[in-house]
Amino acid sequence: MIILGLNCFHGDASAALFRDGELVAAVEEERFNRFKHSGGFPSNAVRWCLYKGGIDPREIDYVAIPRKSNAHILRKLMWAARLPASSANRFKALKNFISLKEQLAFCFGLKPNDIKADFKFVEHHLAHMASSFYTSSYENAAVVSIDGMGDHASMVWGVGQDNKLIIKDYVYFPHSLGFLYTAITQYLGMQAYGDEYKTMGLASYGNPKYGDVFEQIVKIGNSIDFKLDLNYFTHHNRGIDMTFETGEPHVGPMFSDKLIETFGPSRVPSSQVTIHHKDIASSLQKRIETVVLELLTRIKYSSGQQNLCYAGGVAFNCVLNGLILAETGFNNLYIQPAAGDAGLAIGASLFVYHHVLGNSRKFVMNHSYWGPEYSNDQIYDVLKDSGSKYSTKDESYIFDHIASKLTEGKIVAWYQGKSEWGPRALGNRSILADPRNKDMKEILNQKIKNRETFRPFAPSVLREKASEWFEDTTDSPFMLITYKAKKDKIKYMPAPIHVDGSARIQTVDQTTNPLYWNLIKHFENKTGVPALINTSFNESEPIVDTPKQALETFKRTNMDVLVMGNYVIE
Ligand SMILES: [Fe+2]
Repeated sequence: MIILGLNCFHGDASAALFRDGELVAAVEEERFNRFKHSGGFPSNAVRWCLYKGGIDPREIDYVAIPRKSNAHILRKLMWAARLPASSANRFKALKNFISLKEQLAFCFGLKPNDIKADFKFVEHHLAHMASSFYTSSYENAAVVSIDGMGDHASMVWGVGQDNKLIIKDYVYFPHSLGFLYTAITQYLGMQAYGDEYKTMGLASYGNPKYGDVFEQIVKIGNSIDFKLDLNYFTHHNRGIDMTFETGEPHVGPMFSDKLIETFGPSRVPSSQVTIHHKDIASSLQKRIETVVLELLTRIKYSSGQQNLCYAGGVAFNCVLNGLILAETGFNNLYIQPAAGDAGLAIGASLFVYHHVLGNSRKFVMNHSYWGPEYSNDQIYDVLKDSGSKYSTKDESYIFDHIASKLTEGKIVAWYQGKSEWGPRALGNRSILADPRNKDMKEILNQKIKNRETFRPFAPSVLREKASEWFEDTTDSPFMLITYKAKKDKIKYMPAPIHVDGSARIQTVDQTTNPLYWNLIKHFENKTGVPALINTSFNESEPIVDTPKQALETFKRTNMDVLVMGNYVIE
């Protein structure tokens, strides 16, 4: 049975292909069209997934779409009637779904009637929940999705049991923890779609001195719910100015004059970040942690489950994620790498396969390498055409040579195998550096990244060594959980440790990424430190996809070494 999942006409457009419940390929459209978080229809991602699977589009049995226009229809209509006609873009987007079959056929030069697939529509948060539960190894789990909004809800929780997913309760628009984080991020002058993670990084530099204000802005209810004080926002009366066409999505301002009256003028983008801004970020982060941890604790009690599967954009808050096991009573936590809306393509597919069609479970996502890959021959062609000087080396030479270069302070672009599913580079499209050098963050920023100075870089750590260097570690293959570094170890690995003593680590498993594991192992043999700084292989655009993009980014920036497959360029 072939199922194609599509997140389309929404941020982070993506496609995923399943054969008999096993994931064949998954990739975000941004990797191809080079617009970060691209919306629209993921034509390139669809073509690549079918090519990878050797599937003719006429053979697809089901197309799974993570949106259900008749879900909560009365609520949707009520709000659509209240909002100004010009601002109800999210409601307008529904019309695009009429032509899905045409769009899919058009990708392959076919007629709509050539597509025989049955189109199945899955509610947004059910798809988020399914993306986590059905890719986890848990037979039973509490399942929680928290984001800005999808199908009129912002938080949904339920229980996954074997191949079924049962919803227990919703929190509806306009109350939304995701929109709260977005609104404050905008107020802090970070206005690009998906900038919320910058606020999280900034929060560690401040004090939560505005706790009382944020307790007023978001209140925990008596059940598993919360409410925003809407006086601080505009989304409930002006609508949400969002565009999700092909290209980078845009979200208009969501905070009201009341927020400006409370905290003063909003920060002008690119102006200095002051302690006031850091304190606001800190207060927001602290309040989000308090609210989500309380809700998860109630879900733990209400569900009686030991395992938590978590998804939605808020599940990218890795500082909060690092507190979940200690604070909520859950024993195990699983978040798949594309926890945000890209992951909906996987979730919708698996919801159809398991919950709707009743098939049993067998797939577990224990790595993130589901994207495009290019052979050594293809890499060779690019290098030859470019006139670049290169050498060809075998693996053992590469591990030793590159580990030595890293100990000398060189910055290495590491391009191997299939690209990562989700926003994190996890050792196949990565820029690597020595974590022992406390100045390496500044060096990386000067040479390549040019990021805000308050944003941390993160380490990849050998899985079996993580507990020696960090407190209370669990498996963290997708870099979505923050752990405290052991105090006596920080001096040996200062660069990727954040100002609060934490790090968003990736635990690297020898079986799921032997190349990357071996490189880190060689670095450990030379230095005693079983870790490397790992940041995504890009400058400011989406993570590089093709060897040509990798080479161009390498040449444009000041990296020292590029390793693509067996080719070394210095
Ligand atoms: Fe979502």
